Amino acid sequence: MKHLIAPSVLSADFANLQRDVEMINASEADWFHVDIMDGVFVPNISFGFPVMEAVARYAKKPLDVHLMIINPDQYIARFAEAGAAVITVHYEACTHLHRTVQAIHAAGCKAGVALNPHTPVGLLKDILPDLDLVLVMSVNPGFGGQKFIPNTLNKVRELRAMAALTQPDLIIEVDGGVGLSNLADLVNAGANVLVAGNAVFAASSPAAMISELKEIDPD
Ligand code: DX5
Ligand code: ZN
Repeated sequence: MKHLIAPSVLSADFANLQRDVEMINASEADWFHVDIMDGVFVPNISFGFPVMEAVARYAKKPLDVHLMIINPDQYIARFAEAGAAVITVHYEACTHLHRTVQAIHAAGCKAGVALNPHTPVGLLKDILPDLDLVLVMSVNPGFGGQKFIPNTLNKVRELRAMAALTQPDLIIEVDGGVGLSNLADLVNAGANVLVAGNAVFAASSPAAMISELKEIDPD
């Protein structure tokens, strides 16, 4: 499958949110990446339901919701109602991950699990057949605009090889410090969805940058 681009709303201008959502609608972007941070799981607070619902009112593409929160179970139904198409929870935040994944499916969403940079992909072996997506964090979660951690490429390769055995349709998403310089390598390693915050919103033309990221043609 051709790689998908998911601009991160975290890097949008919240005083001009409708404008930025319409920009993404009109661009070649595929998904809206929505980062929810609780100030506990990660050392930052982003935004919650009112802002996500405002995005959902105008967004014409799927909302890819990345929950960087503890105890995500209690909010899954609400995120689904707020318009999530994909809900991704952190491996490190879920004691009963299998139950959480079932709850995401029961809410009618695709289920994803995110891994922090230090978390080995091998820990997902037994849950992989139940997942639609794995999000490999390529920075420590909490902030946009950080530097890409190169070992992510090895993790994506290892995960793609693992998935070939039990979940060949697995979507591998990479999040953090993704841009023109590393996108082709990530796709070659097996990634299908690339989140881009700073790379898109700090560009002089965000829509043109989305096209450039989309049009990169890896091997
Ligand atoms: C980081 C978030 C990312 C972030 C990516 O914790 O999960 O989605 O917005 O932003 P960039 O592309 O600027 O690293
Ligand atoms: Zn994210």
